This record gives sequence, C-alpha cells and structure tokens, in this order.
Amino acid sequence: MSLEVRCSVIPAAGKGTRMYPLTKSVPKELFPLVDRPVIMTVIEEARRCGIEQFHVVTSPRKPALRDFFTNADCESNPQDLPLPQVDLVMQEQARGLGHAVLQARDYVGEQPFVVQLPDDLYHPEDPLLQTMLDVHAVTGGCVVALMEVSAAEAKLYSSARVEPVELGAAAAGHGVFKLADIIEKPEADQVRSPYALMGRYVLDSRIFEILAQTPPGRNNEIQLTDALAAFAEIPVKEGGGVWGVVSRGRHFDTGNLSGYLQAQMELSLENPDFGAHLREYMRGLAGSPDGPGAAPTSTESAAGQGGKAGAC
Ligand code: G1P
Repeated sequence: MSLEVRCSVIPAAGKGTRMYPLTKSVPKELFPLVDRPVIMTVIEEARRCGIEQFHVVTSPRKPALRDFFTNADCESNPQDLPLPQVDLVMQEQARGLGHAVLQARDYVGEQPFVVQLPDDLYHPEDPLLQTMLDVHAVTGGCVVALMEVSAAEAKLYSSARVEPVELGAAAAGHGVFKLADIIEKPEADQVRSPYALMGRYVLDSRIFEILAQTPPGRNNEIQLTDALAAFAEIPVKEGGGVWGVVSRGRHFDTGNLSGYLQAQMELSLENPDFGAHLREYMRGLAGSPDGPGAAPTSTESAAGQGGKAGAC
C-alpha cells in the first residue's frame, strides 16, 4: 500500500521564449484562461484529487508569479480566487526540468508527489490525474501520463518502450503500460513506441537522489526523463518501476500560441456564464457572408441572458 499523495511540484521557471513578445513581462503561467490564470487551472486539477500543498518552482526573473501568490485578496474582494498553500521555490539557473524538480526536494521530503507541467493543460473534466493516483496506489513506484503522438511529433517529447499491464478497476478504462528504455526527445530512429510522456507525473521521492546524480543530457540540461529511465531499472519488489497511463481526454499545449488559443476558445465556449453567448457569436461569425460585422455584438446578446460579457 503506497503513501497518500499530498503535494504537487509545478515547474514554472522557464522564460517562455516560444511566446515572445507576450512573455517578456507576463509569465505564460499567468496568461488568462477564460477567467483565471493558466496556473490556477493546473492547481485546481490537483485540488480535485485532494492535493492541497503546492511547490511552484520559479525564477527570480519572474516577479509577477511571486506577486500573484503573495497578493491574495479574497477576503476584501470576492472575485479573487481562494489559494491553497503555495511555496515559491527559486531555481536560480535554467538547468532543465530535472534540475527544477530537484529544487523542491526539501519541501517535498520523503513522500510521493505529483509534478504538473503547466504547458500541458488537460481539460478540467479529464480524470487523468486521479486515475494516475489510483494506479500509483496499486503499483507504487512512479506513474506518468502518456499520449499517443505521430512519428513526426515524437521528437518533441520523451518516448518509452511499453508493455501492457492489466490493473482492473484502478485503471478506470485507461490503457496502462509498464515502461522501459525511456528517452528524452528521441531522434527519428530512437523512437521507442507511439507513446510520449505528457506533463503529469506521480513520483517516488527517491527520484531526488537519482536527479542529484543525473548528468546533463539532451540540450545539456538535467532531464527528469533520464532520472525516470534509471528509476525504471529498479526492481518492482524494491519499490521501483515506472508505469504509464494513457490520456483519453483533451490536452492543450499552452506553451505555444496556437495551443493556448485553442484552450482559450474551447474552455470559453463551455463556460456556464457566457459560453452560450459566445457560441451564438461564433455562429454569427461562421455563417455570415459579410464576416464579423453580422455577428451579434457582445452587449446585444449578452444583455438578455445576464451574461458577464454585458456587465463588463
Ligand atoms: C518536457 C519533458 C518531456 C515531455 C514534455 C511534455 O519537455 O522534458 O519529456 O515529453 O515536457 O510536454 P519540454 O516540452 O519542456 O521541452
């Protein structure tokens, strides 16, 4: 029986250069996603799984993230969001994802923990993280999210050799694999399977010891993937092994502009307050031979439904 997972490490120290100039002063983790910053959507995903402690690994060059978590104002302003316990962990130098996770070692201690990459955004109704925790309760070791990717995309992620395992109810209908031979950003002839590791991890705290000894790998950075490859070699009877749960839900890469805009559109259209109005607006845009001018204006059609758009 493995320990309960109570905390999440969220690496958020990257410069976000793929989204320049937007990220020059605003961290991508604070970009608005409908009515809250991206990082709050990620935090809420973990809170739905009972996780209440967060260690956000950031950089001294991103003071806005620090301000966001320290200027909580929910008592005087009901529109603010209630925050869970968040520690800001500084990564002074950008030395890779593995190095970022290692900075949280003293905060996590010797308990299993989650890592959530905020660029990998899963739809709020996706039960992926909970399924990973349920699988971890059975398997122990480390559990990662997997997603099927095309041969052309494989080089952007990490790849693993996979072997199916049968876990019954814990898998909740998701495919589960035991992983081996995990490699970061493979060349075309190194791709191990159609499955890539995709931004969610449940990790045994022994990964810290491995990370501390992991030399720089791909891009001369300390890679979490390389530490996982070593953890996968530890026998299962010694608490080792890495398993993967295949995502079946909707995933957005919010670290690039196109993925961010897709998440913004999709979640906006589903929003209970103003989704109906936005869908009507979009139908107007799509159906009109005269283009946007023929669509209802925001005040016109929101007014009748008490939507937030009219109130702003
Ligand atoms: C990181 C990880 C990689 C993983 C990917 C998922 O890469 O290093 O193993 O497959 O996230 O998005 P990055 O996107 O930071 O280059």
